[in-house]
Amino acid sequence: MTTGYLLLALFLAVTLNATNRIVRAIGTLVAALSLTSMVSSIVLADFDGTFALPGKTPVLLWVKPAILNVQAVVGSVGILFLLWAARQQLKRAVATRIPVLNTASLFGRVSRYLHWMIATLILILVPMGMFLSVLAPHSPDRAAFLMAHQALGAAVMILVIVRLLWLIRTPPAKPSAHLGGWEKHTARAAHTALYIVMLAFPVSGILMVLNRGVPLVALGVAIRNPFEPSAAAASFWAALHDWLIPLVFFLLILTHLAAVIKHHFIDHHPADVRRMLR
Ligand code: HEM
Repeated sequence: MTTGYLLLALFLAVTLNATNRIVRAIGTLVAALSLTSMVSSIVLADFDGTFALPGKTPVLLWVKPAILNVQAVVGSVGILFLLWAARQQLKRAVATRIPVLNTASLFGRVSRYLHWMIATLILILVPMGMFLSVLAPHSPDRAAFLMAHQALGAAVMILVIVRLLWLIRTPPAKPSAHLGGWEKHTARAAHTALYIVMLAFPVSGILMVLNRGVPLVALGVAIRNPFEPSAAAASFWAALHDWLIPLVFFLLILTHLAAVIKHHFIDHHPADVRRMLR
């Protein structure tokens, strides 16, 4: 499961930035297909009794399934948008080759690939994590999801660190000249907050698992617990990993998407969005 998701993230990152319009559209269609599989897993779980296990707290019985269903609705809108975008991509030829390094006006190939790999993996990890918390504690499904979740979470942490190091090697493109003063400040603050969240997610997950005293295996590496497990510390990290960080993440993603949509469709600066996406 882990290798499949890592390959999917790499495939989307490369195809969504390809010069050839057919390759780009195929990437977008595969993204739509992946979202369809996520939405259908949630809808299936609504009907096959996955959410209705006896003895569960109301939070696990109602609140988490409701949040998953909201994600299914947003995902369904995303599928329609991606189908429309694939059609548009087929009409639009792109001749320029993207450089490897960032330039003053656009992001280079490595930055784009890292951005889309991290974005894809996080969008997979969030519903996967919620499924983890609602599945029966000792079910084989949960064990498989847990292995994949831990490994992909560790992969995100590594990719974010690589991305930060890469920004030292090649500074990011300058903010678009079309942005006003307050928009530049808000964009910078939102980007910094996104980096903090992208690191806080895996770090809190690792500390939560280690403090529970369960062995942690990710990407084939067994991490030994360097300290005594503590139930109080585990609850603290769980509160961050399961509630606070997802909440901040949802707010930031909404802001990020709203900014991209406003810039592209309302302010009519599609070229600015293409600094990160073909
Ligand atoms: C970018 C990386 C990560 C993201 C975006 C992420 C996201 C999430 C989310 C949204 C949940 C659902 C919380 C809930 O509703 O209960 C979750 C659950 C979980 N995550 Fe992560 N996670 C990441 C990395 C990790 C890592 C690295 C580990 C451990 C090594 C981990 C371990 C867990 C566990 C065990 C759960 C199940 C909930 C629980 O037992 O309390 N996560 N994750």
